[in-house]
Amino acid sequence: MTKPTIFSGIQPSGHLMIGNYTGALKNWVELQDHYHCLFVMVDLHTISVQQDPAELRQHTYDLIAMYLACGLDPKKNLIFVQSHVTEHAELAWILSCYTFMGELNRMTQYKDKAARHQANINAGLFGYPVLMAADILLYNTNLVPVGNDQKQHMELTRDIAQRFNARHGEVFTVPEGYYPKVGARIMSLQNPDKKMSKSDSNSQNYIAMLDQPSVILKKCKRAVTDSDTDIRFDPENKAGISNLMSIYATATGSTMDDVQNAFEGKGYGDFKKAVGEAVVAMLEPIQKRYHEIRKDETSIEKMLQVNAEKARELARPTLEKVYDAVGFVKPLR
Ligand code: TYM
Repeated sequence: MTKPTIFSGIQPSGHLMIGNYTGALKNWVELQDHYHCLFVMVDLHTISVQQDPAELRQHTYDLIAMYLACGLDPKKNLIFVQSHVTEHAELAWILSCYTFMGELNRMTQYKDKAARHQANINAGLFGYPVLMAADILLYNTNLVPVGNDQKQHMELTRDIAQRFNARHGEVFTVPEGYYPKVGARIMSLQNPDKKMSKSDSNSQNYIAMLDQPSVILKKCKRAVTDSDTDIRFDPENKAGISNLMSIYATATGSTMDDVQNAFEGKGYGDFKKAVGEAVVAMLEPIQKRYHEIRKDETSIEKMLQVNAEKARELARPTLEKVYDAVGFVKPLR
């Protein structure tokens, strides 16, 4: 029996932080043995916010090295760069003709980013979710492991696929989102009402995957919490403590009940120290592998070349099916 397909991606828009790991990468590693997996560096998405070209190039290599360092096996998974497979952009155009302005206008990620980048509210930022739908639908994807912040984009992807199928027959597989039980939405350390983000201008708000142990311990110690004393999971009234509990639970593989029981009667200071130590223990082996892998750009480039070819072989038939369905004349080959 063929394995169901998983597709997911991360933008090379800066150094990864622990939310990207707990919301996405960590689960990819757990799923890689059971699915046919495609994991992508979505660089086309990244330029919807202005990037320095040299940095974007470096961040793309950094991200590949991080995928591998986190435990993704390049023999089991198809790891590639989105811009190497032109079918993504081609399908995005077609799908944009099946997506309504009103739908895109409702996207909260668009609203957030538009508010943060007022001098550059470009059409790419607005159409971003259509490109994400194209990524997913090109490969007959069944499951998309992402953090909670991508739920709205996943719903839109399903709507677009269903709308297209209703007009043209069963062309697309309608995918499902897959969200982890804990760690699907890690919040900012200094402002726990806001999600943790790798593009945050204040580095105190996030723990980067490559932060030094001393920096991680300090950031956890300074994390904003309430003036209460009990360690209890209550995201509405105790956002800071609940966030640290989620971080601790994912870092140690424990449940929220375990965390609550383990720290009953203990003070916030002890708890913050334990959270910092757990994150250091989770990241240390990843950091070590990362620095080894990142040195060897030639091996990375070879892998990307082979994988882009394989991805194209999978993407082309879907695109041809779509072109045929919408009525384009087939070119003679
Ligand atoms: P990106 O690059 O913003 O984030 C990558 C992944 O990390 C998750 N994530 C979080 N999880 C928990 N807590 C957080 N604070 C947190 N912040 C980010 C995201 O949910 C995501 O899974 N649009 C996507 C990239 C994309 C994509 C795709 C994903 C493009 N095409 C196709 C899946 C399938 C994004 O901006 O991710």
